[in-house]
Amino acid sequence: MKTRLREASENDLEALVEMRVALQKHLEARDPEIWKFSQRGFEIAPLEVKARLRSKSSYMGVAEDENGRILGMIMAEAARDEYRNPERFGHIHWVFVEENSRCRGLGRSLVKTALNFLSRRDIEQITIGYVVNNPEAHAFWDKLGFVARVTHSSATMSALVNKLSAPEKSEDN
Ligand SMILES: CC(C)(COP(=O)(O)OP(=O)(O)OC[C@H]1O[C@@H](n2cnc3c(N)ncnc32)[C@H](O)[C@@H]1OP(=O)(O)O)[C@@H](O)C(=O)NCCC(=O)NCCS
Repeated sequence: MKTRLREASENDLEALVEMRVALQKHLEARDPEIWKFSQRGFEIAPLEVKARLRSKSSYMGVAEDENGRILGMIMAEAARDEYRNPERFGHIHWVFVEENSRCRGLGRSLVKTALNFLSRRDIEQITIGYVVNNPEAHAFWDKLGFVARVTHSSATMSALVNKLSAPEKSEDN
């Protein structure tokens, strides 16, 4: 099957929102303890996608089949922070390939299209984040040479309160 890669537009909105929501559900299923979308979060997904499509600093790309059916999408952002070195960096926020089209190189091709966008903005470093308990994401980013350098961890308030209210070990023990 022939696939085509191109920049996304508002004509793709429905498919993009579907994939944005599917990505979030996928991550929540991989680890139910991660932060989740509220009902409102799901409701505003179309606005979130629209805002990204209109933003000059964001890039949304899609992979489609010969009939124009969207098979995957990516969203990356070019950011600049003068207090940071390197000052210009890119962040890939979303990448999603529909289940039946995975492991055929589409994810890699989508990253390439985002890279075209980022490289025109003098970006020196690309960052990504993924759910630890999402093995395909780990394998995918690892294959592309990404190295885990920062870990975001979470504990529930009650678990942390319990830990901290346990009797402290005395120095003599
Ligand atoms: C992660 C994801 C985007 C990868 O897309 P894809 O089109 O299947 O990836 P590719 O075919 O381009 O794979 C590129 C490389 O990644 C690795 N890889 C991808 N999926 C893998 C899997 N399930 N298991 C092991 N390695 C995998 C392979 O090494 C592959 O290289 P190879 O073909 O030379 O072996 C896709 O699995 C997906 O959409 N998953 C659900 C959403 C998600 O988890 N997104 C990541 C959010 S950070």
